[in-house]
Amino acid sequence: MNHVPQRIPACAVEDLDDGDTMTVDGNGEAIAVHRVDGEFYATSDTCTHERWSLGEEGDLDGFEITCTLHNARFDVRDGKALCFPAVVNLRSYATVVEDGKVYVLTGEA
Ligand code: FES
Repeated sequence: MNHVPQRIPACAVEDLDDGDTMTVDGNGEAIAVHRVDGEFYATSDTCTHERWSLGEEGDLDGFEITCTLHNARFDVRDGKALCFPAVVNLRSYATVVEDGKVYVLTGEA
């Protein structure tokens, strides 16, 4: 596990429309970046039930993303697993927007 704080360039603000999610490379760890009402949120990309990409295959509705494989739902604001079959939360990351670019903050301060 990486304990060094990192600031990962994820995308440009215009790369992601409201209500969309995309997968970015977080230095070897897939991270899903979500945009809701102009704000950016970041979680781990892989559903905690089985291995399924939420950034590629998830369905974002408000702050909830549904895994389209078995319909688990997560809150993109904190990664919380909201319903069965997922019982483990996603990791959640802070984001920063600067000069039109979105950065994800990983690691531990
Ligand atoms: S892999 Fe996501 S709900 Fe099963």
